[in-house]
Amino acid sequence: MAFLKFFFSFLLCMSYMAAAMGKWPRRIDTNWHDAHATFYGDISGGETMQGACGYGDLFKQGYGLETAALSTALFNNGLTCGACFEIKCVNNPQWCYPNAGTIKVTATNFCPPNYSKPDGNWCNPPLKHFDLSMKMFTKLAQYKAGIIPVQYRRVLCSKKGGVQFQVKGNPYWTLVLLYNVGGAGDVKDVKVKGSRTGWIQMSRNWGVNWQTGTKLTGQSLSFQVTTSDGKMVEFDNVAPTNWQFDQIFDGKKNF
Ligand SMILES: *[C@@H]1O[C@H](CO)[C@@H](O)[C@H](O)[C@H]1NC(C)=O
Repeated sequence: MAFLKFFFSFLLCMSYMAAAMGKWPRRIDTNWHDAHATFYGDISGGETMQGACGYGDLFKQGYGLETAALSTALFNNGLTCGACFEIKCVNNPQWCYPNAGTIKVTATNFCPPNYSKPDGNWCNPPLKHFDLSMKMFTKLAQYKAGIIPVQYRRVLCSKKGGVQFQVKGNPYWTLVLLYNVGGAGDVKDVKVKGSRTGWIQMSRNWGVNWQTGTKLTGQSLSFQVTTSDGKMVEFDNVAPTNWQFDQIFDGKKNF
């Protein structure tokens, strides 16, 4: 018995170590949780473009209208940007469409709290809230509902094609927007390597924009990107030596 106990503690210990080293990615929390949902903008979704995660034209970037703005409790100061959620309308026979099933959205924006508003403060902490595009909300319920109770869970993001890197900034400050990230979807670490540098730790500026003050012009660029589940993917020589600011580079692979 003592041996078995030792053996299992040993196994547990090894699995923690492997997870910590990023060999066995930690899994995302796929349990269902309660929240509420509203919508913003109209059916064309113009209001849902750009947003606090730092994406641009969500149609060009592949997200379309399958997006949500998250309340403070879910947004995690922008670290949740890019994460994918499955959402269903629950416990509201008046407004939930029967057999609506579920929708899947990517977090692309922040639903700001408003402490001075007397009611309707759905996005104030500690409330978990999804402000959906109208198109996605009306897949679940009638728009007249205004607000609906939902359940949500994290799901893996399935994206077509490679992770995209948009290089912005100036010769003394490089800002890289990452989009179309699959797998867990939310990026927790980015390193960049120029052809004449070692790996440089980038810091998160806002949303999914990562920065460095190291001069990288005239060098080909490689990236190491880690998602919230601990999985790291290396993208070698994504940008050629003659890259220009505002160009977008295809990482050619994904999570
Ligand atoms: C917050 O709510 C108040 C009262 O309804 C409103 O006047 C104000 O514009 C809101 N602020 C923001 C930032 O939405």
